[in-house]
Amino acid sequence: MTFTPRVFSGIKPSGDLHLGNYLGAIRRFVPLQDTHETIYCVVDMHAITVWQEPEDLKRWTYEIAAAYIAAGVDPKRSIIFNQSQVMEHAELSWIFNCVARMGWMERMTQFKDKSGENSENVSLGLFAYPSLMAADILLYKATGVPVGEDQKQHLELTRDIAKKFNHDFKKQIKALGHKGDFFPITETLATGPAMRVKSLKDGSKKMSKSDASDLSTIYMMDDADTISKKIKRATTDADALPSEVAGLAARLEAENLVGIYAALSNTSAEDVLGQFGGQGWGVFKPALADLAVARLSPIADEMKRLVADRGEMDSILRDGADRARAIAQPIMADIRNIVGFVR
Ligand code: TRP
Repeated sequence: MTFTPRVFSGIKPSGDLHLGNYLGAIRRFVPLQDTHETIYCVVDMHAITVWQEPEDLKRWTYEIAAAYIAAGVDPKRSIIFNQSQVMEHAELSWIFNCVARMGWMERMTQFKDKSGENSENVSLGLFAYPSLMAADILLYKATGVPVGEDQKQHLELTRDIAKKFNHDFKKQIKALGHKGDFFPITETLATGPAMRVKSLKDGSKKMSKSDASDLSTIYMMDDADTISKKIKRATTDADALPSEVAGLAARLEAENLVGIYAALSNTSAEDVLGQFGGQGWGVFKPALADLAVARLSPIADEMKRLVADRGEMDSILRDGADRARAIAQPIMADIRNIVGFVR
């Protein structure tokens, strides 16, 4: 059995999008359109595993879909939709809840981190989160998923679920006329060096929407002045930039800013240091601020234009959901049959 090269990825609408989401995820979605069938989802059902104000959930859902498009994901070539419009995600996740083992779920480090000391009082949905993620991916028999380091364990679980399903229902899968496996063993796609953007105030922490300091995070909707200000006030040491990458060792903030420059200019840290090695922050920060504004402002403008047009956004998401369903429904019909549900 050969599977169509198909990519699925998703982002949770649970906060304002920032530079880390862009460089670490959204930007990497664009070139995959040339080589794969691409499905990019706004995973609103995942978002509600922790409390979301309903009005914020809607706003962020539109914002992420708009960011996909503004960054270069073509809603005609790719499928862009929000998860809750395709109810098969929920249906398959239930079946996967019955395939996945408690022991597998209990090993998920993200759940342990997120529930922390509060594990008696988090939602059941948060515990089942990785099972819904496996359903997202396997509902389309996606062969590749571009995600960062922090999602690798969830993808491994997705493969475990696929293998167990393929094995447990071997007879029924064969009876259905399938040669070989029903679900693919989905790969983690590394598209270029994965950029892990760090906080502008502390190079040991991820850039995040929940940072206490407003200056630590560049939001995709920030205006030019705000972007500039945040970069110029970024925490750094007092030394000049090194001319070699090795000189960035143990200089986390410098490494982060050089990495951001390289990512935004589509070059490498070597190239950036070739240009700026020996220079001080008084030269580098304004150059980075100009670059960031030049790259991010057009995206922000396009996002603003799109989110202001709810009619347009609704029709894009509806069209995406229709096309997603067209792929999902025949697969789901096979799954019901395989499991033994009478229809
Ligand atoms: N768990 C992912 C994250 O937090 C989001 C996600 C949900 C996802 N479903 C997915 C990513 C399917 C890739 C594929 O980043």
